[in-house]
Amino acid sequence: MNRVEIAPSILSCDFSRVGEAVRAMIDAGTDRIHFDVMDGQFVPPITFGAQMVENLRNYGDLCFEAHLMTQTPEAHFQAFADAGADVIIFHAEATVHAHRLIGQLRNMGIRPGIAINPATPVDAIEEVLGEIDLALVMTVNPGWGGQKFIGKALEKVTAIHKAYPELDIEVDGGIDPSTIGAARIAGANVFVSGSYLVKQSSYAQGLEELRRACG
Ligand code: DX5
Ligand code: ZN
Repeated sequence: MNRVEIAPSILSCDFSRVGEAVRAMIDAGTDRIHFDVMDGQFVPPITFGAQMVENLRNYGDLCFEAHLMTQTPEAHFQAFADAGADVIIFHAEATVHAHRLIGQLRNMGIRPGIAINPATPVDAIEEVLGEIDLALVMTVNPGWGGQKFIGKALEKVTAIHKAYPELDIEVDGGIDPSTIGAARIAGANVFVSGSYLVKQSSYAQGLEELRRACG
């Protein structure tokens, strides 16, 4: 099984104090930082762009992953690569050219990831699972933090893990100590956490609870 990694999302942070939050996440020993990029088109809200990654990049050399919830994701690849993202995840639903986009990311030296919404079957990415570094299975509908975990999505995690046991599989949405264990058993090894972590008394304690509940 691949190494368990927790990826705190900055989406639930106070945006006027994101730097302090990221500093605290890093001090608490987080594995990655997850950047939720929303364009107001693919999903209704607008969050932030590549400058957020650029401005936080010198806080640490841990993995920064950009989750692009945008139309025409390829229009943003270069900006996020230049800003210092290590992993760029685009949505299968946002392109009919996933294979080409994966190649573009590779050519930029970026680790490519692809995400699927709750309504999207694994079939949509089956042909490219061997080409990517990470598969992200959404366990909520993208757009907002703090939503209820959709357990049925774990059937897709199980299917992907069975076909590609070495592939990093990330789950995103509604992850807390009551849901993370089932996601781990299904085969996920990277866990996004937004609202749960922000509500804990410290990031260190929240990360520990999540790791413990992972088993
Ligand atoms: C949802 C985002 C998630 C979000 C998760 O559109 O992709 O990364 O931050 O937040 P929680 O953990 O609160 O569900
Ligand atoms: Zn996300």
